[in-house]
Amino acid sequence: MLTGKKILIGVCGSIAAYKSAHLIRLFIKEGAEVRVVMTASASSFITPLTLSTLSKHQVYTDFENGSSGVWNNHVDLGLWADAFIIAPASANTLGKMANGLCDNFLTAVYLSARCPVFFAPAMDLDMHQHPAVVSAISKLKGFGNHLIEAESGELASGLYGTGRMAEPENILSQIHRFFSSGRLKNKKVLITAGPTREPLDPVRYITNHSSGKMGYALAKSFAAEGAEVTVVCGPIQEKPDTSNIKTVDVTTAVEMHKAVMDIFEKQDILIFAAAVADYTPAAPSDTKIKKNEDTFALHLKKNPDIAAEAGKKKRLGQFLAGFALETNNEKENALKKLKNKNLDMIILNSLKDEGAGFGHETNKISILEKDNNFTSFELKSKEEVAKDIKELVIKKIHV
Ligand code: C5P
Repeated sequence: MLTGKKILIGVCGSIAAYKSAHLIRLFIKEGAEVRVVMTASASSFITPLTLSTLSKHQVYTDFENGSSGVWNNHVDLGLWADAFIIAPASANTLGKMANGLCDNFLTAVYLSARCPVFFAPAMDLDMHQHPAVVSAISKLKGFGNHLIEAESGELASGLYGTGRMAEPENILSQIHRFFSSGRLKNKKVLITAGPTREPLDPVRYITNHSSGKMGYALAKSFAAEGAEVTVVCGPIQEKPDTSNIKTVDVTTAVEMHKAVMDIFEKQDILIFAAAVADYTPAAPSDTKIKKNEDTFALHLKKNPDIAAEAGKKKRLGQFLAGFALETNNEKENALKKLKNKNLDMIILNSLKDEGAGFGHETNKISILEKDNNFTSFELKSKEEVAKDIKELVIKKIHV
């Protein structure tokens, strides 16, 4: 929560200005006090009335307050804020900020603000790559301002590339982390969760009972420590409301593998909680398979082992944990898995105990560590289990 935090949002002239409305709502929902300052061109994209209604306060667009002869004080506003978030930040405003120009109210507030400043660039990909913009961003980072990186995808121009303003949820989660006093404040955590779904034909697939609950319980627990958490999640029924967790939705094991590998290098802690299908139909049919024969043989091929590949690529400082669901020789098989996949920890799920495992709200685990430490825990809620795992990870990475 950001209860009582004073958040000043700066809106520039970009089509992404429509997202500022959602951003303001998110901050208000978090208990923050919000004020908004807009450039003149921003009001061509979204009206001050929309943003003043959402922020429950007048919006600042100029030095002069209407025709009342009263001046808006940029210094006061800059001093009022606990954080100034310029989202969307246009190329024009970034250029001005980087060079100390202040020909409008927003840039004057920027120059006088003493609080931490965050900026979320939003522009077309070629503008975003232009050396002038690259240099402005780098200069601003040099001033100690915090970049909220633009995301990749389809841009308003119809082109694909990087330049899209970060989603409001991702902006909020960066601010959350900034104000967090958690022990994992500067750590990036990736968690795989849920099942994968392997298509047989356009209407049928192979999957398993994983609900994704354990993965999300872990994600929430790590996010509560200030970590930047990404969940790569297979198809699940109930997706929790998680404003401070980034989710990448995938369907198949191959998609999950790609999503993990795309961001693997940047992560500090990786927890493989997904129940990934070991095999996938070798040649899924483009059309619905007919029931012509009495028997039907399914030819399967092996899926990539995401945890094992991550284990091979593991760099110094990365911590990897996996799950093992065993029905016999539990400890022995889990130990083999730990070694084969080059993990630092393996969490052994019990299938024997009532209320443990797939779909349940509770779980019963044992943890086997690289140094052969073995700890067994009682049957607990998945939230408490997640906390036990987190505490052990924190102990191991010495934070
Ligand atoms: O080899 P097994 O499937 O039993 O290993 C379980 C662990 O490996 C879990 O942590 C699971 O998330 C991970 N895994 C994976 N990719 C696979 C299979 C399992 O990441 N293809």
